[in-house]
Amino acid sequence: MKHNTEIVKVLAPFETKEEETLIRASEIIKSGGLVIFPTETVYGIGADATNPKAAKKIFEAKGRPSDNPLIIHISEPKEAEDYAYTSQTYYKLAEHFMPGPLTVILPSRETVPPETRGGLSTVAVRCPENTVAHRLIELCGVPIAAPSANLSGSPSPTTAKHCIDDMFGRVDMIIDGGSCDFGLESTIVKVDREGEVTLLRPGQITVEDIADADITVKIADAVTDRLREGEIALSPGMKYRHYAPSAPLYLFDGDRASLLRYINEHNFGKIALILYSEDIEYFSLALPEAVVFDFGNRGDKVSQAHSLFDLLRLVDVEDFDNIFAPLPDKNGIGLALYNRLIRAAAHQIIKFDGE
Ligand code: TXA
Ligand code: MG
Repeated sequence: MKHNTEIVKVLAPFETKEEETLIRASEIIKSGGLVIFPTETVYGIGADATNPKAAKKIFEAKGRPSDNPLIIHISEPKEAEDYAYTSQTYYKLAEHFMPGPLTVILPSRETVPPETRGGLSTVAVRCPENTVAHRLIELCGVPIAAPSANLSGSPSPTTAKHCIDDMFGRVDMIIDGGSCDFGLESTIVKVDREGEVTLLRPGQITVEDIADADITVKIADAVTDRLREGEIALSPGMKYRHYAPSAPLYLFDGDRASLLRYINEHNFGKIALILYSEDIEYFSLALPEAVVFDFGNRGDKVSQAHSLFDLLRLVDVEDFDNIFAPLPDKNGIGLALYNRLIRAAAHQIIKFDGE
């Protein structure tokens, strides 16, 4: 269905005008419409989580398979009580990380329609910190179901421009709240009825952070490895193709001289190189035909997280034959970068053993 998409700007500090715009956005959501809004991770496409018809519209707008469940966004951790069976572990996670970029999967109550949770018996709950997101949820008075506001399969949007590129004409309103603080989607953990915690998607809240809060966390195999044949994904989203540019992407694991030699020994055609800032001059001189993209300083994972999805969109604008990017290490938020990049690269890693 074709929508007239209104684009509005809401930046802090909140004055009357901003508040009025958010009231209008909340009215759209309460009457079953779709509103794209910023969060501290990525932009989300929001609808009333308790309205099955509205939830269905999200799947249509994104072209998302209906078995891939939505996260419900609440304004206070205790609101989860109305929609899920909480536990001590949930409250311990909430005490340390909410509001913030953490999503917790809990057994669902019947108040969440099956359309919202993709027919599963569990529901994903998140309490965002971003002031626009927080106020919008408060004004709605119901949780907002919101997946990332990209077309299914594309990188998540981190700016209003990304949302407009993917979703103009598919939603009722896009709220431009500037560039998202972090730039990768929230950390997802599953808490089972026994209180055991499993990491399903790494993000800004790291496994190290969770361990520091004295919570034992297991990492699901699918965070770093390909699903084995016949294996059932703990999170339905893990089984779908995601983030991949149209040209093949290879992740290189090794020193730059080996990569240069490897590229020179093959005919890769027109190539794009996503590089740490320190390596840009080296490759620009050695491979003047290649187009280079700055991934940020080698040690600056925060700025890499901030730019990754923008870069994955940029390399798709030109017709490259092959794309290369570094394989991140798995420490701290490196695990989130690793997880998104190996999926974008369909697990194609080129390993060099050094000089
Ligand atoms: O940062 C984020 O989490 C953003 C912002 C908008 O909040 N949202 C987001 O939603 O990334 P989405 O739908 O793009 O990714 C949610 C992932 C999907 O892979 C989905 O399969 C998984 O969470 N998921 C949702 N509910 C689940 C459940 N009950 N059990 C297992 N996985 C679930
Ligand atoms: Mg998504």
